[in-house]
Amino acid sequence: MASGEPSPGSGAARRPLHSAQAVDVASASNFRAFELLHLHLDLRAEFGPPGPGAGSRGLRGTAVLDLRCLEPEGAAELRLDSHPCLEVTAAALRRERPGSEEPPAEPVSFYTQPFSHYGQALCVSFPQPCRAAERLQVLLTYRVGEGPGVCWLAPEQTAGKKKPFVYTQGQAVLNRAFFPCFDTPAVKYKYSALIEVPDGFTAVMSASTWEKRGPNKFFFQMCQPIPSYLIALAIGDLVSAEVGPRSRVWAEPCLIDAAKEEYNGVIEEFLATGEKLFGPYVWGRYDLLFMPPSFPFGGMENPCLTFVTPCLLAGDRSLADVIIHEISHSWFGNLVTNANWGEFWLNEGFTMYAQRRISTILFGVDPDDTYNETPYEKGFCFVSYLAHLVGDQDQFDSFLKAYVHEFKFRSILADDFLDFYLEYFPELKKKRVDIIPGFEFDRWLNTPGWPPYLPDLSPGDSLMKPAEELAQLWAAEELDMKAIEAVAISPWKTYQLVYFLDKILQKSPLPPGNVKKLGETYPSISNARNAELRLRWGQIVLKNDHQEDFWKVKEFLHNQGKQKYTLPLYHAMMGGSEVAQTLAKETFASTASQLHSNVVNYVQQIVAPKGS
Ligand code: BES
Ligand code: ZN
Repeated sequence: MASGEPSPGSGAARRPLHSAQAVDVASASNFRAFELLHLHLDLRAEFGPPGPGAGSRGLRGTAVLDLRCLEPEGAAELRLDSHPCLEVTAAALRRERPGSEEPPAEPVSFYTQPFSHYGQALCVSFPQPCRAAERLQVLLTYRVGEGPGVCWLAPEQTAGKKKPFVYTQGQAVLNRAFFPCFDTPAVKYKYSALIEVPDGFTAVMSASTWEKRGPNKFFFQMCQPIPSYLIALAIGDLVSAEVGPRSRVWAEPCLIDAAKEEYNGVIEEFLATGEKLFGPYVWGRYDLLFMPPSFPFGGMENPCLTFVTPCLLAGDRSLADVIIHEISHSWFGNLVTNANWGEFWLNEGFTMYAQRRISTILFGVDPDDTYNETPYEKGFCFVSYLAHLVGDQDQFDSFLKAYVHEFKFRSILADDFLDFYLEYFPELKKKRVDIIPGFEFDRWLNTPGWPPYLPDLSPGDSLMKPAEELAQLWAAEELDMKAIEAVAISPWKTYQLVYFLDKILQKSPLPPGNVKKLGETYPSISNARNAELRLRWGQIVLKNDHQEDFWKVKEFLHNQGKQKYTLPLYHAMMGGSEVAQTLAKETFASTASQLHSNVVNYVQQIVAPKGS
């Protein structure tokens, strides 16, 4: 068994947390009954055709969990999160035995229980109940082929189109379809993995170490405790290049030069700024993996190895905010973690705040970027409000550093954070800032609607004003081309163009002919390769039924599969003309096989809602 030194954060001196009692309704496991000390995965990857038959693609091997019983009365079974796509063929149990160095593993029985559409429980029965504080090891032999956790891509679905590719995406509840586990962010543990791949493939994981063991085996160790959703694996035709003292870029060979070119030298600057603000970067290295085009997110903050969409290779470094966002998760999300997904804003709201602190320090301006979802933006507003109550940026920055230090390697609830905030600023506590009428903390967190306080974004106004005015000119019945041509957009930054297009979209449909003219006037927009611009041009084209450019929407949806681009475009197509709706159906039919399974389900709902 692995040695059982206590995991950091479990020390007796640390503050008791609200999260210690919280339930996670998304987990079927009995994670409160055990401490998970370590997970080891030993898996062999095989590429082949999809399906259950012999030689079909899949991961097979074992998951080994080192546990300690926490139930004062002992426990008779271990309940793990799992998924119907995991075929568990054997379970074995190794228990401490006096006088026996390495006790034998004995086969034990197991069964599954239905739980929800995203998972099931895997119950391992102990012949005799384990005692309080007893150490045990559970070994599960299994195979996983098709399913929502492990994404298999055929060669045509990669950038190089030569070799297949496989990757996992854990957040939020998909890793139970990768390995049996406590799939709740309330639980953190260290893991190791031995991954065997076919000739000519490379495996990478979200781990502190990467070690080649012979031509076909890769060994990984994550030296810091992390929640299940941050364990990630990718296997493909991958190469890497150094871009800084503690970072490399990983990509298919055909993308590596572009990746290196775009990120050489910049990552270290982002990391160093984050460290100054929020405390030590504990993860050792920060690598980036450029994913195949169907990767459904801009970025995923897998520790030590952020997964990013190849759309970031815009050639102009304009999409660095995504990297800064994912780097910010190194402190907010990966070190201090939401204890369940109802507290998601703790991950994303703080990360938006941290991202903007880093950008402000490095670039001065605080561009009002374009994400607008509640846990991200309302969370950001709440953190900004708390900073505003403090009134002094340096003091608030120090507080953030203390917050990370206080809760690192643990999973928390909003109440844990708020208690700490009020303790840290006793004068605010005395003033009862938590119950200021209209701004009650409870109201921020528990009532829907617009945030009661909006941070001051006026530094961005001077950059956004001209974009707004230009959009106004384009909305006129009679276009004033002289006024329009007087505005030179070539020096504009991408986010200014994005803002301009958002305004055009708000005013759409424009009077007939205006969008055609707009596209002709600004080929840098209508023929853009930057994904944020392509998305918005597509939305404008659809909202104005500008059929001449429908092919660009189609091409974009064939080129990448990011959820935040894909869903709005399908909404726009289905809300558009008959031609647009046909385009939606045809495009979905020909791209569905390339999309992540979650994205397929969402698009299905848009294109052919259930019950219609
Ligand atoms: N952790 C998220 C991505 C995510 C969220 C995956 C929920 C699965 C479930 C990541 O950090 C993120 O927020 N990515 C954004 C980029 C960002 C700049 C807002 C994205 O993918 O667009
Ligand atoms: Zn995020």
